[in-house]
Amino acid sequence: MSLFIPPDYFRELRHDEIFPSPSRPLEVELGCGDGTFLQQMARQHPERDFLGLERMLGRVEKTLRKIAQAGLPNAKVLRLESGYSTGWLLPTASISRLHLLCPDPWPKKKHAARRLVNQEEFLNGLARVLKPGGEFLLKTDDAVYFEDALASLGNRPEFERLDWSADAFFYPLTDFESHWLAMGRDIHRARWRRL
Ligand SMILES: C[S@@+](CC[C@H](N)C(=O)[O-])C[C@H]1O[C@@H](n2cnc3c(N)ncnc32)[C@H](O)[C@@H]1O
Repeated sequence: MSLFIPPDYFRELRHDEIFPSPSRPLEVELGCGDGTFLQQMARQHPERDFLGLERMLGRVEKTLRKIAQAGLPNAKVLRLESGYSTGWLLPTASISRLHLLCPDPWPKKKHAARRLVNQEEFLNGLARVLKPGGEFLLKTDDAVYFEDALASLGNRPEFERLDWSADAFFYPLTDFESHWLAMGRDIHRARWRRL
């Protein structure tokens, strides 16, 4: 079953409770939307496991349909909030890459604290769940969100920024990203390594 239901929502999970083999790389996408990116990544990399997190039921269902149609045993979806999951639920030092792609921008100044990259719970969790050498990859069309992310991650000694050219490795467009590009918007990208 591709819908992942944690055995307990109030303690840290073990890697083998999500996917059976902790020796396989685990990648997590926060706010996976309709699953466009997750499905393509799981097809391209059958040797890795992929967990998508999404809080909206309709989008979870779309992602589940894509996973089922493509017959992907290495992709699952968890319907839960990203900050809590990263902060408390996902296993420590278990994740090879964590993707945050076109997150909700919360553009109003009074909502800045809602941006995931401005939340201590998320930043502490990010440092906790990534393996040493693991990576956090962010794309956004929102310049203010991007500046916040650069400032937040730049203040954390656990991370170093890496180069990320567009053709560095297989990295499919998300649904929202395609939409923004079609409208002529710029997409900002950044990539950090957990030291
Ligand atoms: C702008 S959409 C982008 C979706 C997808 N990443 C894409 O690029 O096509 C943001 C997604 O993140 C989800 N989301 C926003 N905040 C979330 C949170 N705190 N926890 C889980 N999902 C969240 C939304 O429901 C939505 O599907």
